[in-house]
Amino acid sequence: MNRARWGLLSTANINRRVIPAIRASKEGELTAVASRDQSKAENYARTWNIPRAYGSYQEMLDSGAIDAVYISLPNHLHAEWTIRALESGVHVLCEKPFAITLPEVDAMIAASQKNGRCLAEAFMYRHHPQTKIAGDFIRQGNLGELSHTWGTFSFPLDRRPDVRISPEMGGGSLWDVGVYPLSLAQYFFGAPPIAVFGSQWIGESGVDETFAGELCFAGNRFAQISSSFRTPVFTHFEAIGTAGRLSLNRPFTQMDEARQLVFYPKDGEPVELPVPEQELYVGEIEDLNNAILHGAPTYITLAETRDHIRTALALYRSAQTGRTVELSSIA
Ligand SMILES: NC(=O)c1ccc[n+]([C@@H]2O[C@H](COP(=O)([O-])OP(=O)(O)OC[C@H]3O[C@@H](n4cnc5c(N)ncnc54)[C@H](OP(=O)(O)O)[C@@H]3O)[C@@H](O)[C@H]2O)c1
Repeated sequence: MNRARWGLLSTANINRRVIPAIRASKEGELTAVASRDQSKAENYARTWNIPRAYGSYQEMLDSGAIDAVYISLPNHLHAEWTIRALESGVHVLCEKPFAITLPEVDAMIAASQKNGRCLAEAFMYRHHPQTKIAGDFIRQGNLGELSHTWGTFSFPLDRRPDVRISPEMGGGSLWDVGVYPLSLAQYFFGAPPIAVFGSQWIGESGVDETFAGELCFAGNRFAQISSSFRTPVFTHFEAIGTAGRLSLNRPFTQMDEARQLVFYPKDGEPVELPVPEQELYVGEIEDLNNAILHGAPTYITLAETRDHIRTALALYRSAQTGRTVELSSIA
């Protein structure tokens, strides 16, 4: 095998970003799409020039025509179809949030191990040079001691109904976009928090349409995160240390012209750190291609992924109970 043959599991809106990334990747090709409906799959395949169309997800998994699948289903279906794909011998890139319970996450990881197939969480921004340069910059000690961070991701959710505001489908702003600043804080601190406190505003939809969280890390270090479906598009992250702060503008979205990484030292003038241009979604595809074709470890480990979900669950529990939640209480 010298190229990974990809299938899209669903005709989701987000596929429009991932299709060009698969095609732009050095060792991947887009072979198939599956939908719950044959004619929908065929129309989609025609529109996007995809060679094969399947009217059931399982049919595509059993076809032998794909090596890897991109799962862009509503959140409550991620675990079921990830496991089915792995059991069918297909490698998986699964959208965030990876799953919405820890038993699901554990079953997904176990299925990957049992079937010897690669599995990764589709956090595309983690593969972008802006994130990697920022992580290296912090780890090299340029901020002194990292003290606290704050990060946010919001956008106005005008499309209603939408899977994001369905309580039954794992909707909610924390699950949908709050997990971005959450995961970036954990990446910068190099570990999950030890305790969290969450607050939420539940809309008529029945899900958190605005969420705010405080994360307490070992060594008296803190992160504040927020997410909303009610406010204009805004993604930003600040990492603040004893020797200065690092400001990441637009760290989670495609808009490259506004993407910026600036170091504000304790003394002296701000310095803009150059960030090479890279299409936002290509890194996650090349990462899985590399794992499939060359046996490389995936860049985002499954242990990190499990910690993302564990922290989100702790935040939700805190918001529901009004109490601080220790991460050790979330199995
Ligand atoms: N990484 C990113 O930048 C990013 C951005 C947006 C979304 N996402 C993630 O991608 C996933 C999909 O989000 P999206 O907004 O693209 O979703 P969407 O447009 O609503 O599409 C979801 C797809 O899932 C399939 N599906 C299967 N069962 C369904 C059900 N009961 N109800 C509705 N759809 C069902 C449908 O495909 P068929 O009808 O073809 O079967 C549908 O097109 C979510 O997990 C989300 O968090 C990631």
